[in-house]
Amino acid sequence: MTTLITKIQGLQVLDSRGRPTVCAIIELSDGSIHKASVPSGASTGAHEASELRDHNSPQAEKFYAGTSVYQAVSHINNEIAPRLVGGQPSTHASDETMVELDATSRHERIGANATLAVSIATAKACAHLAGLSLAQFYQGQGPLLIPMPMVNILSGGAHANGALDIQDVLVLPHGAENFAQALSWVVAIREMAAKLGAKRGYVTNLVADEGGLGIGFESSNTACAFVTECIEVVGLNPGKDVSIALDIASTQFYSDGKYTSRNSGTIYSSQQWNDQLVELVHSHPIISIEDPFAEDDWDSWNSFMNQVPSTLQVVGDDLFTTNLERLRKGIAEKSANSILIKANQNGLITHTHQVIKEAQNNGFKTIVSARSGETEDSWLSDIATGWSAGQIKVGSTHGSDRTAKWNRLLELEATQECVFSKPF
Ligand code: PGA
Ligand code: ZN
Repeated sequence: MTTLITKIQGLQVLDSRGRPTVCAIIELSDGSIHKASVPSGASTGAHEASELRDHNSPQAEKFYAGTSVYQAVSHINNEIAPRLVGGQPSTHASDETMVELDATSRHERIGANATLAVSIATAKACAHLAGLSLAQFYQGQGPLLIPMPMVNILSGGAHANGALDIQDVLVLPHGAENFAQALSWVVAIREMAAKLGAKRGYVTNLVADEGGLGIGFESSNTACAFVTECIEVVGLNPGKDVSIALDIASTQFYSDGKYTSRNSGTIYSSQQWNDQLVELVHSHPIISIEDPFAEDDWDSWNSFMNQVPSTLQVVGDDLFTTNLERLRKGIAEKSANSILIKANQNGLITHTHQVIKEAQNNGFKTIVSARSGETEDSWLSDIATGWSAGQIKVGSTHGSDRTAKWNRLLELEATQECVFSKPF
């Protein structure tokens, strides 16, 4: 007997920052229930899909200061549900229906928070019907590729009240043999960072948005030296076992062709900023750098790529915003060699999947990423695995919103046939 969708309900729930977000619940005629909650960024790119918040609309809940999502929820209940209930679950059909319902290019009317919640709940329903986990549903045949974790140790920028100019100093435990070992290494480094930081007089018992430490080092250089020291002190070899990844998130401090360092009070031209970064990556065991330049400073990206070794992973996050056209431009212009994939920058799971496939087909490395505002949902780990992304970025090792994703990967590694990704 064919299994049909019997009910779709939207719901306002809270994310890890205590801000409202959207959850979609899909019920099938076999009695099963599938739900998905969506994340929300703080350092958002201008070209991202648009999440719908109530602001000054009559539906706004005043205690949420305009951030409530009742309109997005009502679009699920009153526009999307009537079109999909009674049909068979299909991510393609749901996504195309939602595209039809909203002619805007960034889901401005219905809200990308509404569309993505329904899209992912539908993917979970489809996996259930196939008798597979979400990871296996996307993977098809063969062992699962468990992604290499890229883990935040120090936070700055919009995630830690500007403690550092740059947003993340992260580690990549590329010498580990499996995911469980990789995670044990980064937990040790995160703990050592808290211990050594406290010894040096910094506050290390408070955490930033993604569970990292918001230590106000005087410069990115000092922050990288500190993390390298932590890697060494726990008994690992920087550059061999574990290397550093940076998310500069430079759009946040770019304006009118200038990059302004709040740490030093210096204003840099694009060329001067480029020189700073080239020196930084040469001075530390850094193997990945994200958003070194602002989202529309395309020329600087290309020129940077020509100056750094081809082994350096240069990642576009705000540059690409998980958007096919922007990715294609970046491939053609050789602006980067890697893309951060965030489903809520795109708004639909099938279109996000298309973006990652395009990147992979063009030799780009791919990193599936959480947002700074997350939920306890762990679909991200399944799609990162099922799509053979190779890498996953979730934040730090603190906070259930983060550990939900790490723990799901531990579970996949322990229970399914898999190999651990070795992207470096
Ligand atoms: P965001 O940060 O979710 O606040 O955008 C994550 C990132 O920039 O990678
Ligand atoms: Zn980023």
